[in-house]
Amino acid sequence: MPAILAIESSCDETAAAVCVDGMIKSNIIATQQVHQKYGGVVPELASRAHLQHIVPVVDEALNQSGLTIRDINAIAFTQAPGLIGALLVGAQFAKSLAMSLTIPLIAVHHMQAHVLANLIPEHKPGFPFLCLTVSGGHTQIVRCDSPLDMKVIGQTIDDAAGEAFDKTAKMLGLPYPGGPLIDKYAKEGNPHAYRFTEPQIPALDFSFSGLKTSILYFLQNAGKSNVYKETFLVSPEERQAFISANLNDICASVQERIISILLNKLRKASHETGIREICLAGGVSANSGLREAIKRIGSAEGWNVYIPAFEYCTDNAAMIAITGHYKFLASQFAPLDISPSARASW
Ligand code: KG4
Ligand code: ZN
Repeated sequence: MPAILAIESSCDETAAAVCVDGMIKSNIIATQQVHQKYGGVVPELASRAHLQHIVPVVDEALNQSGLTIRDINAIAFTQAPGLIGALLVGAQFAKSLAMSLTIPLIAVHHMQAHVLANLIPEHKPGFPFLCLTVSGGHTQIVRCDSPLDMKVIGQTIDDAAGEAFDKTAKMLGLPYPGGPLIDKYAKEGNPHAYRFTEPQIPALDFSFSGLKTSILYFLQNAGKSNVYKETFLVSPEERQAFISANLNDICASVQERIISILLNKLRKASHETGIREICLAGGVSANSGLREAIKRIGSAEGWNVYIPAFEYCTDNAAMIAITGHYKFLASQFAPLDISPSARASW
């Protein structure tokens, strides 16, 4: 009956969670506000904010769990991938705690943890399952044969889906992170108002950079063209007026295309593998249009669809804790001199 204390610090969320025998007892997240005015995460500011937040966040996770630090059997932490300075704060903290308590240390891959967030609820997918993991930095289709046996079978060859949401929002003059705002405006818009083409990418891979460029040209020319023009067809004032008047329809049409790119590949993966246990993971799985569309396609395709609760979709430490739980059961412990890594495949 392991009690795991988990720490997540890969990007701009400082998070800690406690899990006892695979049940999440607490899940604390401090989102760093300092980046908003810069339109994206500033790595050095993220590291400093992690240093400020980590002790209170871990304290609160322990308090809410009703456990004390002496009840903890192992410390799990995000070892990769992420911003190296941000990862270092969590890794040093986790290593120091494990060393001082003389308990095992568990290194967790952030993307593997996003997938395993699907094992937190009581109603869990059966194995094997497919997981579409969509976050700010990754877009993957993962085949999962057991908690610790998973393989990436498709991924983006350029930008991630979350990046497509955030960059579109930036072009529309919306603040970072723009994904949730596009979701909000899309609810009031017509998804078929404008048509952005779907990229033809082989196998189960994705691409979002062409879409991003066509949105840029589309906005530059106020919807009159989405190909490059040496001189824009409209003035900056007309462009701004076009965006303001059609914001809901633009957001709905972009969101519709991102969702269709994602779900057409997921459908292909299901047909190719014969797997109908289908999960969603990562920050973009908070998108209401994506959640509705996967359920709709799922019922047409005979899928059992699993979507983690909202707090387990975006970055959190509960997903690190549940992964730590399975690694503890498999005695997959890390040496105390392990280093974090900005980019690491699993
Ligand atoms: O998984 P996550 O919290 O962090 C990473 O590991 O990247 O994902 C963050 C991404 C951001 O791109 C954010 O805009 C996007 O998830 N996101 C959304 C929504 N909520 C978060 N994108 C679309 N609709 C949402 N409701
Ligand atoms: Zn993430």
